[in-house]
Amino acid sequence: MVLIAPHSLQHMLFASKLLLGLTQAAVGHVAPAAIVSRQLEQHLQQAGVSSSCLVASHVQHDSQRDQYSAKQQAQPQQPQQHQQQQQKDRHLLPGKACPNKPPAEACRQPLSFLRNARGQQQQQQQQQQQHWQRQHPWRQQTHAWHPWQQQQQQQQQQQQQQQQQRRGLHLAPPFLVEDYVPAAVTTYRLGRMPAKLKAAEKELANCKACPRDCGVDRLAGQLGMCGVGRKLLVSTVAPHFAEESPLQGWNGSGTVFFSMCNLRCVFCQNWDISQKRAGFELSGAELADWMMKLQDFGNCHNINFVTPEHVAPQLVEAIAAAVEKGLNIPIIYNTSAYDGLPSLALMDGLVDIYMPDFKFFTAESGQRYAKARDYAEVAKAAIKEMHRQVGDLVFSPDGLAKRGLLLRHLVMPGLVDEGKAILDWVVMELGRDTYVHIMEQYSPRHLVGSGEQRSRQGWDSYEDINRPVSSDEVQQLRQYARSIGLWRFEEAPRYEAGEMAG
Ligand SMILES: *[C@@H]1O[C@H](CO)[C@@H](O)[C@H](O)[C@H]1NC(C)=O
Ligand SMILES: *[C@@H]1O[C@H](CO)[C@@H](O)[C@H](O)[C@H]1NC(C)=O
Repeated sequence: MVLIAPHSLQHMLFASKLLLGLTQAAVGHVAPAAIVSRQLEQHLQQAGVSSSCLVASHVQHDSQRDQYSAKQQAQPQQPQQHQQQQQKDRHLLPGKACPNKPPAEACRQPLSFLRNARGQQQQQQQQQQQHWQRQHPWRQQTHAWHPWQQQQQQQQQQQQQQQQQRRGLHLAPPFLVEDYVPAAVTTYRLGRMPAKLKAAEKELANCKACPRDCGVDRLAGQLGMCGVGRKLLVSTVAPHFAEESPLQGWNGSGTVFFSMCNLRCVFCQNWDISQKRAGFELSGAELADWMMKLQDFGNCHNINFVTPEHVAPQLVEAIAAAVEKGLNIPIIYNTSAYDGLPSLALMDGLVDIYMPDFKFFTAESGQRYAKARDYAEVAKAAIKEMHRQVGDLVFSPDGLAKRGLLLRHLVMPGLVDEGKAILDWVVMELGRDTYVHIMEQYSPRHLVGSGEQRSRQGWDSYEDINRPVSSDEVQQLRQYARSIGLWRFEEAPRYEAGEMAG
């Protein structure tokens, strides 16, 4: 595994050595434990990465992959069962029918059409069956009275089974892609990069990329509310085994943590990164080199930008440079959902997976907990635009996410009602096929408990959110999500198994 925690030039050198060391370690030349320095370890821990886990994971690469595939296989669905269907659908999938066309634009229509058509067909069949049963109650007692009926029954059973199996792994044809070409690669091949770069530079000259609308000239080094000027400020670059399993797979997600943030969440768990001007100044081209390392040495499944809202223009430069160097893995945009539409327009055709965290639903909560009264309004517009660009989350046959929207919601203590409102909004505006991650890892950090002086309200230590969420709150929200028809969840397997048994 590559671990890179660049804080200074020295560290950068160290990181390259580390990279080399770990590559050697992987083939058994060096004992991995000797490679990771204390300083680096501390830094990674702060960033939520356990270095021992990373080193170990490198050595156990293969066993981890085996475990991962075993887990996937243990789920009821067998990919072969869908092969026939896949073959039929193949002409609709990116890379087959639409070579050199942006998959999101060219193929989303047929895919969603397919899904609706199949749903309607199933519904019709069910209705027919119910109707038939109501009309002929006596026939139900003599199931096998005629061969054709037996056959029909078997087919129905098979269909039902298949449907259940699909739900288990979320890998049914509408949510399955083969031969996925990352969006940025397509944009590059179509010759659209220069226009993107130009738009990015224009944005930097009068920056309204994020909703804070500062209007500063970042080309001249002026700093807006985010405190980041011309260059990117990067805290950590590392393969990350984070919460979402379809992103981490068995090789990890190639994460780039950016310093600073455009929100001011009082409970931020990464406040030492997000609120302090610490880290490493990189140009777009320099970041592109690190992205290539994540791909080529880290074997990461994707590049994962964490907290990129305020550096979207510079990311265009980084992505363009990396694609030119041969970057060929999906790009993930891991955000707080406080994204401006101008920055999302820049990212259109570059990002494959959007992973917004929709946090609050009321202006009061946005103001009180994140110092952004317009948070919910901005998040709604941003998430709708993200969904328009990439559609619902789709997977490759090995269970890795490739394109689409992965919506997250961090359950907050005492704010279950806002969580419900958010889920209702998701069903209404994005649909029930939205892939949702209801997260329970809130922990009271930063100003929660210690408090701060607020101008009008006086001293506030946020006692109302000064506790972890209860498992009851999390269960309540998960049950609610199911009750309103959502069904594609990122969850602990245990919970999924329990649900299935019950
Ligand atoms: C996404 O970002 C959050 C920080 O905002 C981080 O805790 C989480 O691990 C990231 N997820 C992934 C999959 O990188
Ligand atoms: C995962 O890493 C291994 C090498 O450690 C590599 O052979 C494999 O191609 C990687 N998998 C993916 C999907 O990139």
